[in-house]
Amino acid sequence: GMYDVGVQALCDRGVQKIPDKYIIPEHDRPCAGNVVSTGHIPVIDMSKVHGVERAKVLQQMRCACEEWGVFQLINHDFPENSMQSMMEIAHQFFELPAETKMQYYCSNPSSATRYGISYNAEKEKRFDWRDFLFQPCHPLSDELVSTWPDVPPSYREIARKYAMNIRTLALRLLAMLSESLGLYGEYLAYALKEHEQKMLINHYPPCPQPDLTLGVSGHTDPNIITVLQQDEVGGLQVLRDGLWVAVHPIRNAFVINMGDQMQIISNGKYQCVEHRAVVNSARTRFSIASFYGPSLDAIICPAPQLIDQDHPPQYHEVIYGDYLKAFRAKGPNKKAYLQSVL
Ligand code: SIN
Ligand code: FE2
Repeated sequence: GMYDVGVQALCDRGVQKIPDKYIIPEHDRPCAGNVVSTGHIPVIDMSKVHGVERAKVLQQMRCACEEWGVFQLINHDFPENSMQSMMEIAHQFFELPAETKMQYYCSNPSSATRYGISYNAEKEKRFDWRDFLFQPCHPLSDELVSTWPDVPPSYREIARKYAMNIRTLALRLLAMLSESLGLYGEYLAYALKEHEQKMLINHYPPCPQPDLTLGVSGHTDPNIITVLQQDEVGGLQVLRDGLWVAVHPIRNAFVINMGDQMQIISNGKYQCVEHRAVVNSARTRFSIASFYGPSLDAIICPAPQLIDQDHPPQYHEVIYGDYLKAFRAKGPNKKAYLQSVL
C-alpha cells in the first residue's frame, strides 16, 4: 500500500533479506577492510574555555579541526533536559502510525519541513537504511514553527526550545572557532550573513543485513558546522587518512563536524570531515543533526586574514545558494563537490 514503504515498513514486516536498492558496492560496505574502531576523535571540554586554560582549549580545537575536522564537545552548558526531551519526542514522532507521519512526507529535497524515507528521491540509485524528519529552524518565527509536526502535541514547543539552545551553542562555537583561526571573534558569524539553521532527525531501525548497507553513506556536510546529538547505540564513523573511525557515544556530548564552508572560509586550514552512519541488527538508533550555516545569499570566500604569499587562496568566492544547488544536483555521492570550487 501507499504507506508500505521505507525501512520501518521492512523492519515491521520482519524482512530477512534487504531489497537490492539498499545493497551498496563491496568497497563501501562497513565490513570492507578500511574500518578501524580504535583511535579516538578529540574531546573538547568547553567549560575550560572560561578560565586560565582558554588558550589551551582553543589550541586543542585548532588541532582537532586541522587534523580531524570533528570533535566531541563536553561540558557545553546546553540544558540537559532539552537534550533529553528532544530525543524523547523524536522517538515518539517516529513511533506514530505511518499514515500520520506521511502527512509530512515530501520527496522534493528543497522543500522546507518534511518527513522522508529512503524510498524517495528519484535520482538516488541506492537507498539509505533510515528515515528522517527535516525542518528549518531559523528565523524561528511562529509561522515557521507552524510548518513543523504538531504531533505529538508537545513536539513544537520542545523542538523550538532545542533549536534556540542549539543556536546559542553554535554562536559560542563560531566565536571560539574564529578565535582559534586567529580571526576576530565575530568573524565567522558575520561571514554567514543572515545565517541558516536546520534540524535533521535520523531514525535507523534495526537492519537484518547491516554489513550490506549504510544508514547514511559517506558525505561531508555543505554548511559550516553541524552539532550532532547521537544516542548511546553508536554508528557514526568519520574518515581519517583513508580509515573509518567510529565515534563512540559519550553521554550528553555533542559531535561537532566541520562542513564545506568552514574549509572554504579557513582557506583549507580546517578540514571538512567525511562521515557516514552504519546500522546494526539489534537496536534502533537515533541522531539529531543541527546544521548551522550561511544564508543562501551569503558570499563565501577564504578569509583575507588567512591569505598571504605562503597561503594563496584555495577556493573561489561562491554564493552559498549556488553551492547548495550544485551540491544537491550531485546526488548521493556528495563528497567530491568541494574540490570543484578550487
Ligand atoms: C548524518 O550525517 O546526517 C548522520 C550522522 C549520524 O547519524 O550520526
Ligand atoms: Fe552529515
